[in-house]
Amino acid sequence: MTSRIPGFYKMTVEERRRTLKEARDLSNEQIAELAKNAPLSIETADNMIENVIGTFQLPLGLGLNFFINEKDYVVPMAIEEASVVASASHIAKIVRDAGGFTTEATERVMIGQIQVVGCTDFQGAKKKVLENKQIIIDAANDAYPSIKARGGGVEDLEVRILNEESDSPYEKMLIAHLFVDTRDAMGANIINTMAEAVAPLIEELTEGKVYLRILSNYADRSLAKARCVIPPELLQTGEFSGEEVRDGVIYAYQFAASDPYRAVTHNKGIMNGIDPVVIATGNDWRAVEAGAHAYAARNGKYTSMTIWSKDDDGNLVGELELPMSVGTVGGATKVHRLAKRALSLLEVESSKELAQVIVAVGLAQNLGALKALATDGIQKGHMALHSRSVAIAAGATEEMVDIIAKKLVEEKDIRVGKAKEWVERYTK
Ligand code: MEV
Repeated sequence: MTSRIPGFYKMTVEERRRTLKEARDLSNEQIAELAKNAPLSIETADNMIENVIGTFQLPLGLGLNFFINEKDYVVPMAIEEASVVASASHIAKIVRDAGGFTTEATERVMIGQIQVVGCTDFQGAKKKVLENKQIIIDAANDAYPSIKARGGGVEDLEVRILNEESDSPYEKMLIAHLFVDTRDAMGANIINTMAEAVAPLIEELTEGKVYLRILSNYADRSLAKARCVIPPELLQTGEFSGEEVRDGVIYAYQFAASDPYRAVTHNKGIMNGIDPVVIATGNDWRAVEAGAHAYAARNGKYTSMTIWSKDDDGNLVGELELPMSVGTVGGATKVHRLAKRALSLLEVESSKELAQVIVAVGLAQNLGALKALATDGIQKGHMALHSRSVAIAAGATEEMVDIIAKKLVEEKDIRVGKAKEWVERYTK
């Protein structure tokens, strides 16, 4: 099954659904699900959060051409911003022609933190906890037996003492870390349940007082990494030679690597690719965002999440490694119908595989932005689609949108004010 569907962007939504059905061998039922006007029922929504008054929709597009570890993926992306899906698909096509992305993932271990304060002897408390490590691990596993049954559970326990030399009782604390293999779940509920369950035992052992018992979103034991190697001839763009584009991308990377003002924007462009997949698959994008930015500052300075370089053969080499705490079971992935559908469209078999697809999309998105920035600038591509939103914002009816958007682009004046003038003229 391919992810290469030429001309997809030119089709109507109906044609795209039909084409997708054939390309991915979907059932009528699966396609009907995508076509439903309210993919999240108000009853389900009311069971998900508090004070519900409605549901909120985003456009769901497909990132195409993704070829990762010799497998084809169509990637569901939920996002409000124009150009993101087009740019990801464009770069995925280039990388595909270069052999595709290679990705890997580490073990899938999440961390639970238990904070203990007020110990009279912190070193003694640490020793006590470590001596009773297995008892604590067993108690944590007993608190969530189903994860053990799925082959996961607590793997290890570590103790740290923070601010040992401080005179302030508020600063000095013992932190126990539970390392938990959460299998295909993101793991927040598993970890929080376990951390709360073992807290009394830890209090007893340390003779201190436990305050916080919570998952850490710094998932540096759940890393996913993507890499691509692109010959310069595949990067040629308009007047710009492949070598010029390659060098422009490397200069752009060096800018982000050296300057936090640029790194934040550079990394925002990476998250432009990552968040839409995280959202479409019903995962917690705030957790992924927080972990990703912290990882970008892991050496004490906030810097670029990606690395772009040139290899001995003159190819452009890109790499992205990030913590990726996403799940394919549990949470919204179970209750949100469209998230379920998005996951089944992706055809990933595990959370590790999902994490790898997500970083590949992030890497593609970054290259899309840098390639555009280093050549024509992003406005050229961006404005064509943006002009449609501007036309709608100005009150253009469905029949007018195409015509007015085209006029705005032709006149290189894409403003709501200008669009309103056109709407008035057409209405007359
Ligand atoms: C816009 O949403 C994202 C970019 O600003 C990213 C970047 O500058 O690298 C284009």
